[in-house]
Amino acid sequence: MKATATAPANIAFIKYWGKTDSELRLPANSSFSMNLSEARTTTTVEFSSNYTKDVVQFIGEKSTPAEHDRIIAHIDRLRSIAGNREQARIVTQNSFPKGTGIASSASGFAALTLAAALALDAPLTQNDLTMLARIGSGSACRSIPDGFVVWEKGTSSATSTARSVGSAEYWDLRDILAVVDPTMKKVPTTEGHETVATSPHWNDRLASVEGRLRAILSAFKDKNFDLFGRILEEDCLDMHKVMQSQVPPLVYWTEETRALMRSIIGWRASGLPVYFTIDAGPNVHVICEGKNEKTVVNRLDGLACVQFVLVNRPSQGAHGIDTHLF
Ligand code: DP6
Repeated sequence: MKATATAPANIAFIKYWGKTDSELRLPANSSFSMNLSEARTTTTVEFSSNYTKDVVQFIGEKSTPAEHDRIIAHIDRLRSIAGNREQARIVTQNSFPKGTGIASSASGFAALTLAAALALDAPLTQNDLTMLARIGSGSACRSIPDGFVVWEKGTSSATSTARSVGSAEYWDLRDILAVVDPTMKKVPTTEGHETVATSPHWNDRLASVEGRLRAILSAFKDKNFDLFGRILEEDCLDMHKVMQSQVPPLVYWTEETRALMRSIIGWRASGLPVYFTIDAGPNVHVICEGKNEKTVVNRLDGLACVQFVLVNRPSQGAHGIDTHLF
């Protein structure tokens, strides 16, 4: 009754922002992402009649009571599917350095879902696992399948699932995470999703985002990097336009974020194919092809606003491993 799984974080090129059902985490739009090679969570789950209560332990990090409760609520979902009432011990570890602003909820809930399903020997398909991971944290469903992943918004819990549209080897892209501010974000995304409709730009986003998804998937199929980059940057700016005009406003960018965005636009104007995307934090994900990795890293290293970089390649999704954390 013990199993371990590891799962990557992911970066969305078409973002998930806003829900139609908060409890089931049904998204307002479909989204598209790449799994990240250097940002993983590994989790061991054991169910045993010897345990008298559920225990959650983060290696090298502190957890809050709210995080603990969210994890146990997820374990309860899996226990009820498997018809198991034993208490669990859960030990989890993130590979990525603190302060990258990479949300551990995607990799965390993907690894937790798979580890618990394996420990319970629950007969779940990959599609089922994406559905369950989604209820833990929306973006977690995109960390289950391999490589490049589409999460279809669907019309119900059973149809809001994620699937791979390209293996990690399909396209040699890089997400070079440029850290400009290693302090943690202050507003959790779960709260931000709730107030999207207060933005005057929200309906425009809803009207355009599915079209952008179709366009970027076509650029992805053709490996047309310039078109691909243009669309992913457009979607990032569109999401932040909504965030910044929500009530209360969510302004994640700092002066350093803006300076870096301007540098990237300038590098592009001078012929270097490079684009940016930004999640709910100030750090910038710099997207380029593998052949330009060194040039981009050198340029980022030369900027005063960048504190350090983390170079990610596309990666496989969640999978079980034999080495347990306890
Ligand atoms: C800005 O998946 O963290 O990173 O479903 O409430 O857990 P919950 O939200 P979460 O939202 C991620 C938002 C985003 C965009 C994205 O990854 O698509």
